Amino acid sequence: MADQAFVTLATNDSYARGAMVLGKSLRNTNTSKKLVALIGPHVSEPCRSVLRMIYDEVKVVDLMDSGDTAHLAMMKRPDLGVTFTKLNCWTLTHYSKCVFMDADTLVLSNIDELFDREELSAAPDPGWPDCFNSGVFVFRPSVETYGKLLQFCTEHGSFDGGDQGVLNGFFCDWATADISKHLPFIYNLSSVAIYTYLPAFKQYGGNAKVVHFLGQTKPWSYTFDPKAKQVSGSGQEAAAHPTFLLDWWTLYASSVVPLLQEQYGDQPFFSGCLDSQPSGMVSSQNVQGESSFPPALPPQLSSEERKEQWEQGQADYMGMDSFDNIKRKLDTFLK
Ligand code: UDP
Ligand code: GLC
Ligand code: MN
Repeated sequence: MADQAFVTLATNDSYARGAMVLGKSLRNTNTSKKLVALIGPHVSEPCRSVLRMIYDEVKVVDLMDSGDTAHLAMMKRPDLGVTFTKLNCWTLTHYSKCVFMDADTLVLSNIDELFDREELSAAPDPGWPDCFNSGVFVFRPSVETYGKLLQFCTEHGSFDGGDQGVLNGFFCDWATADISKHLPFIYNLSSVAIYTYLPAFKQYGGNAKVVHFLGQTKPWSYTFDPKAKQVSGSGQEAAAHPTFLLDWWTLYASSVVPLLQEQYGDQPFFSGCLDSQPSGMVSSQNVQGESSFPPALPPQLSSEERKEQWEQGQADYMGMDSFDNIKRKLDTFLK
């Protein structure tokens, strides 16, 4: 349908890489919908070119930032004020219905059926299930709604400092009014759920249609060895979602890297990037001319730091916080 679209957002080159992989995953699962990427003015020209190869429409939008450092500090995500920019998606009025997807999501099978839902449909947030998670939602572009949302921001702000706080405030009857607006969790399976409810993940995880790499550590924060097909690094967190992470990197390596190479020439595209670098696509190690392999060993964390990371949804699922370790600890209490 020409008047329906998947929409994502990238305000910098790191999230643009996420958007490239998301776009490819939508194409690979044969969506019949249009693909739109909203980008901030700082996304580099080569990244824009790659996005234009994948998306039907790449639109530059003005950045909006909540500037709400106090609430963002509570989430320990000072970077998320800029997610207010997401609200721009309501201005895409040449589409009658859209599905917004965070740039850190990956589509595993066709999800065009989401367009049968109405505004505002979304899946529960794993941290507070009476709120919806704003990483995947169905909406109807409308200048009127956009205006009301901006007004809501001015009058009430956001309880989390990001778009999710605003949207839950605005669509405040989501939890109770209409169950058809509750998307099944498999349309926005966040990695957090894997360790907070492992048996459910084992039971239902195979049906997942969209994975959401929610939290501070993103797929592009890791390093990938394309020959060994192994993901590693990112310090503290041994992947809480190892197979999905490998899916992300496999798609990135096979479908996105060739497009990046057309734009940038041959560069190491397989390690975490720093946006401030001129190309926007290479790791700090590479800028210094050193190899990013093998990746640095994870730093040793104090138990307070580990607790903090756990609370931020960054458990060391394969290591200290593994299911076996937790079970052993519980067993000692029970004895
Ligand atoms: N985003 C962006 N630039 C940023 C931060 C966020 O473009 O600096 C966009 C991007 O689409 C991202 C979404 O806003 O997926 C929400 O942020 P994030 O996914 O980091 O939040 P989380 O899902 O981890 O809470
Ligand atoms: C969330 C959502 C994300 C949103 C952020 C800030 O955790 O996953 O999409 O941008 O909160 O509100
Ligand atoms: Mn996200």
